[in-house]
Amino acid sequence: MSTSGLEGVVVAQTKLSAINGAEGELIYGGYEIDDLARHTTFEEVCYLLWNGELPNQAQLDGLRAQLAAEQDAAPELIEMLRAYPRTADPMAGLRTIVSALGMFDPNADDNTEPELRRKAILLTAKMPTLTAAFERIRNGKEPVAPRAGLSMAANFLYMLNGEEADEIRVRTMDAALILHAEHGMNASTFAARVTAGTLSDVYSAIVSAIGTLKGPSHGGANVEVMNMLRDIAQSGTEPEAWVDHALESGRRVMGFGHRVYKATDPRAKVLRDLADQIVPAEGGEGGRGGRYWLDLSDRIRSHMQARMEAAGKKIYPNVDFFSASVYTTLGIPEDLFTAVFAMARTPGWTAHLFEQYAKNRLIRPEAEYTGPRGLTVKPVGER
Ligand code: CMC
Repeated sequence: MSTSGLEGVVVAQTKLSAINGAEGELIYGGYEIDDLARHTTFEEVCYLLWNGELPNQAQLDGLRAQLAAEQDAAPELIEMLRAYPRTADPMAGLRTIVSALGMFDPNADDNTEPELRRKAILLTAKMPTLTAAFERIRNGKEPVAPRAGLSMAANFLYMLNGEEADEIRVRTMDAALILHAEHGMNASTFAARVTAGTLSDVYSAIVSAIGTLKGPSHGGANVEVMNMLRDIAQSGTEPEAWVDHALESGRRVMGFGHRVYKATDPRAKVLRDLADQIVPAEGGEGGRGGRYWLDLSDRIRSHMQARMEAAGKKIYPNVDFFSASVYTTLGIPEDLFTAVFAMARTPGWTAHLFEQYAKNRLIRPEAEYTGPRGLTVKPVGER
């Protein structure tokens, strides 16, 4: 028996998160995503994923100190970023620098629990620093070192833009990181677990995950959403007509649909609410700042909803749909969106690695052979 795309196949047990696709619900460790996004910080969610419970103040302070101690990027790594071609894709850049991080770790191949925890903190702390440094270097700017005392979300925006963001922007960044931190057996998490299942090292597993997240059917969709919004804006086409044309040409509208959700992705709802708080009423370049992208997104959502309902399909906005306009408002360049997703997903990926290594069995499914049999080899000149 074969199951296309492994749909509905349970490949592991996890205590990290659960998705109710029919109702559009997501919990991390027992807590509703909406509650976490509104009332916790990314650091608290990291603690929850790595320890199975939310931290008390002392535990949270301890984790913050550990993350802060790992936030710097070694000069060798910054030199590597400088050697990248200026045209490098940010996800290719992140994949390469995370691989390099492993080479600089003398204990890279030690998969014992304390070492797994150390690497989870190290990767979660360094990925925002390296992503921000990548962005500045490719624009001919010097990287900005992390600032002591800032949260992960605040520090990322600070290192990216060279100035501290205001409270509402930091809060939005924090919520976006929380919303992307974990999501069951998605493709990149599965890739990480398959790699760890061979007893390979954490860095290799995270490199596998980054390469998998890069695809437009997974994390790469957030970049494609922004490309779509720009395409609509530049063409001057009405968004409804653009959607009709896309659907009639058999194309997918990016930021819609999900393998598991058959209702609106709860993460999309939180992001839409946050967008209202941070997107300014007016302003922006060429009349395309302010609410422009958000209004365009709302029109696409309404029209897609009508079209999909008429077709009897349960296709709703997913997390990537509104993250495009939210990230744009936060000043994050669009081709960096998937790298931001990757740094946010690192606590989830590493928490899955804790589970995988703790109860490992090689992940090795089968393929059903559909080719010929019984052939015999002829000499090359006779073929
Ligand atoms: N636009 C238009 N039609 C769609 C879309 C879409 N975005 N997504 C699915 N459909 C249709 C699809 O054409 C198919 O129709 P039919 O039954 O007539 O052939 C039906 O819905 C079922 O699609 P499927 O390919 O069986 O669904 P899947 O579970 O294999 O794919 C998906 C899930 C996410 C790859 C797909 O919905 C998609 O390509 N969406 C656009 C890309 C996207 O936004 N990805 C981000 C996913 S959420 C973030 C993440 O976890 O990475």
